[in-house]
Amino acid sequence: MITRERLMYRVILENLQLLPILPRFNLKPGFGELSVDEVCQAHEVNTDFFLEIANAYLDELYIPGEGLSLFSLDTMVNYITSTHTYYTDIALPTVEEKIHRLMEGSKLSEKEIHLVTNFFNDYKKDFMAHITQEEEHILPYVLELERQSGLEKPDPGFIQKLQSYSISEFEKEHDRLEISLKHLSELIIKYLPPFDDLHLCHEVLNELAGLMKDLVDHADVEDKVLIPRVAELEVSLLNSANSV
Ligand SMILES: [Fe+2]
Ligand SMILES: [Fe+2]
Repeated sequence: MITRERLMYRVILENLQLLPILPRFNLKPGFGELSVDEVCQAHEVNTDFFLEIANAYLDELYIPGEGLSLFSLDTMVNYITSTHTYYTDIALPTVEEKIHRLMEGSKLSEKEIHLVTNFFNDYKKDFMAHITQEEEHILPYVLELERQSGLEKPDPGFIQKLQSYSISEFEKEHDRLEISLKHLSELIIKYLPPFDDLHLCHEVLNELAGLMKDLVDHADVEDKVLIPRVAELEVSLLNSANSV
């Protein structure tokens, strides 16, 4: 369990799997002797929020909920958006480049190569559609809901919209992005003939495993923290509007 008093460099050194979350908070290694709290304060990061996210990331059994519900939706939306950026700018291009190299140097038939590249291209399309839907519709809605809840007189037009829309609609169709990556790993491990470049093959599988774990964590923040908080806020905004 990471605590605020611990030295940041030690925390990262002992838990290198936390490296991908650092850029989501604009943090870069080179921490010197500063504690977790001191690093966070120097970068205007909410220390408690960082600790919740980092501890959830490290503990597979951790179910985010209570701890994370202390933070504003705005803080959560920022984190979700920068995680999306990490996926689109770093994680997906990295795994894609490795898959291409693996295919190029392999003795796979053209049909097999197409199978893998088409699978990944389709996945990328679904992935981008998922993220675009969240960034263009869901997250702006969440921010607006939080803003309206803070107003003495919420906008009647927004209240009207709330009567016919709720976050549960999004919840129902919110699919899990890690599942297809599992199928891709299965394709490589089980069905395709062995690759000569074993090292690169392992690298691809490790990248896929890392991304899958990250996506599970990300969906947990959305499903188990964001959506219940939004649903709660919707009910209380509707109730207070009805009681006026
Ligand atoms: Fe997301
Ligand atoms: Fe999502």
